[in-house]
Formats: sequence, structure tokens, C-alpha cells
Amino acid sequence: MDEAKLQDAIANPSNLGEMEDADAMGTVGSPECGDMIRMWLKFSEKDGRKVIDRASFQSFGCQTAIAVASVATEMLKGKTVEDAMAMTAEDMSQPLGALPPMKIHCGQMVEGALRAALEQDAAGTGTGTAAPLSGPEGNPNAPMLAESLQAPKPGGGKIKIVFEQPESEA
Ligand code: FES
Repeated sequence: MDEAKLQDAIANPSNLGEMEDADAMGTVGSPECGDMIRMWLKFSEKDGRKVIDRASFQSFGCQTAIAVASVATEMLKGKTVEDAMAMTAEDMSQPLGALPPMKIHCGQMVEGALRAALEQDAAGTGTGTAAPLSGPEGNPNAPMLAESLQAPKPGGGKIKIVFEQPESEA
């Protein structure tokens, strides 16, 4: 792992922050550490192909995740959707060098956020389902993202099933 590049990406992350006019957004949380990351994508067209014009991210995660997201969002610029879809966590963290085993999931979280955003775009749902990321004053508010991730998914919660007893015919 390239410690200098890692520290630089942590100190000056590229493309950090919510993207107002994004076309797609993906959010993932890591069950391993409870960290989370959200990625926004803006597309444009180049030579008749859909390409990523720019990407940004917000992270409530560890520094490695921030560093990988920083280099990944740089790398994504100009990539076609197909090329972006084919990118692995390893590709995305490549400028930082190989991640140590306990940090591999940090890169995978970035890959997950990218895939979630690309899939959302493919499904044509846009960013309309975005949970609020900012507090009332437009202040980035980590707990709100945390809440949105922890909120039970529709139909995903535990439902207690109670069978009705047939009324006895007395
Ligand atoms: Fe979990 Fe980095 S994302 S420790």
C-alpha cells in the first residue's frame, strides 16, 4: 500500500460532497464495520456512448474508504457505463496499492456504491428515491444517512404472523 498516496487522498479527497444534479446515486453500508458510502454519478454522451461525466461521494466511513472513493471517482471520469460496471474494488484502489486484508472491504464498499448507482440508472429510477443526506440547514449530517441506511426496507422488516383461530361454534 502506498502510504503517501493514501495520506494525500485522505487529506485532500477529490470529488467529496453531494452532487445536486446527479443522474444516479448509490448507497451501501458495510455490515463488517457499520461504515457507509454514497456515490453520485452524472452522465454525458461521447461518440454516441453514455459515459460518466463526473462522480462524487460522501462517506461516513474509515479513511481507507474515503481514499479509495477519492481515487475511484477520479478514475471514473470519461468511462463508459459498461467499463465502469466492469471495475472491481481492486481496480479502483489500484493507485493506492494493494489494500491490506482487513481493509479490502473498504474498497469493496466503494465498488458497491458505484454498482448501486449504475444499477439505479439502468433501472431508470434516477435519484428520486434519495433519502435526505443533509440536515435542516443543509449541514451534512452523518446520522441522517446512518438512519436512512438502517431504516427497515419496505417489506424487509420482521413481521409477526398471527394465525386467527376459527371461532368455535358454540
Ligand atoms: Fe469498514 Fe473501512 S469501510 S473499516
